[in-house]
Amino acid sequence: MSEAQTVLAARDLSRHYSVSQGFGKPKATVRALNGVSFELQQGKTLAIVGESGCGKSTLARQLTLIEAPTGGELNINGAATSSLGKAALKHLRTEIQMVFQNPYASLNPRHTIGFQLAEPLSIHSKLSKAEKQEQVVAMMKRVGLRPEHVGRYPHMFSGGQRQRIALARAMMLNPKIIVADEPTSALDVSIQAQVLNLFMDLQDAYHTAYVFISHNLSVVRHVADDLMVMYLGKAVEHGPKEAIFEKPCHPYTRALLAAAPSLNGHQAELKLKGELPSPLNLPSGCSLHLRCPFAQEQCAQQEPELRPWQGRLVACHRLEEIAA
Ligand SMILES: Nc1ncnc2c1ncn2[C@@H]1O[C@H](COP(=O)(O)OP(=O)(O)O)[C@@H](O)[C@H]1O
Ligand SMILES: [Mg+2]
Repeated sequence: MSEAQTVLAARDLSRHYSVSQGFGKPKATVRALNGVSFELQQGKTLAIVGESGCGKSTLARQLTLIEAPTGGELNINGAATSSLGKAALKHLRTEIQMVFQNPYASLNPRHTIGFQLAEPLSIHSKLSKAEKQEQVVAMMKRVGLRPEHVGRYPHMFSGGQRQRIALARAMMLNPKIIVADEPTSALDVSIQAQVLNLFMDLQDAYHTAYVFISHNLSVVRHVADDLMVMYLGKAVEHGPKEAIFEKPCHPYTRALLAAAPSLNGHQAELKLKGELPSPLNLPSGCSLHLRCPFAQEQCAQQEPELRPWQGRLVACHRLEEIAA
């Protein structure tokens, strides 16, 4: 086999939003994403975790070209997106598809699922009707849907089945990358595992790379190769899944794990103080310092950089004392 190919690379990616604060007041800046970097290889899964409001969906919208980042660089399947024209971007969009938390966001309630699975082929290929039909049926079988249901509408399926349809649709053009934003968070726990298994099966079959976003560490435990833990628009810990689950080093990762009882095992519990600060007004220094039980003077003043630590990258001043 040839060497693994990098299909997605982000360098210092950021997205700030300018928002109105009301009449007569100056505009404010929401710093939703603040310099995220990673590389993703063909057929691999990078899981992104962090509590609600950390910038995960903002990252997803930059990666899938739904929005343009306000800083940094994005490279999709070898192409630097900032240098591409409209036509090239349109083509590149076929290589990176998104699956949303709520499949209704991507499925049209007024079209049959047969129509919606064929639609990407109609837009981007010159296949005949019969050829499209054949591919639609094959994909339905592949994702565990009954081909005789091809004429049904989205509301006639269960939540889990709708997510299968959304994933099938994302897969129709055989993209290099799928970005899945909380794809199982709206599903019953009993259904979540089935949908996660489907993600895994499709990855085996098509060698698709996944960016798999979740606020729940136990969801990503089985699907991830690498893990990136985000806090207020930045990565605080990033590396191989095994290393991080074996020994989470950043206080924020430890708190996330402590909140997932089934994973907690031997880890001592760590609780954060207070609430997530607003990205309108980020704390000085380490953005966790107001909530972190280990915070000291330096943490309030100086922003920690990601640095290599025990087989992963961690952004914390106090690693030597708290994670040796
Ligand atoms: N279009 C936008 N305009 C202003 N603020 C936004 C916009 N999109 C997201 N935000 C803010 O950015 C922060 C991160 O949001 P989001 O990326 O949705 O986080 P997550 O997906 O991790 O819950 C939140 O504070 C959110 O309110
Ligand atoms: Mg989100």
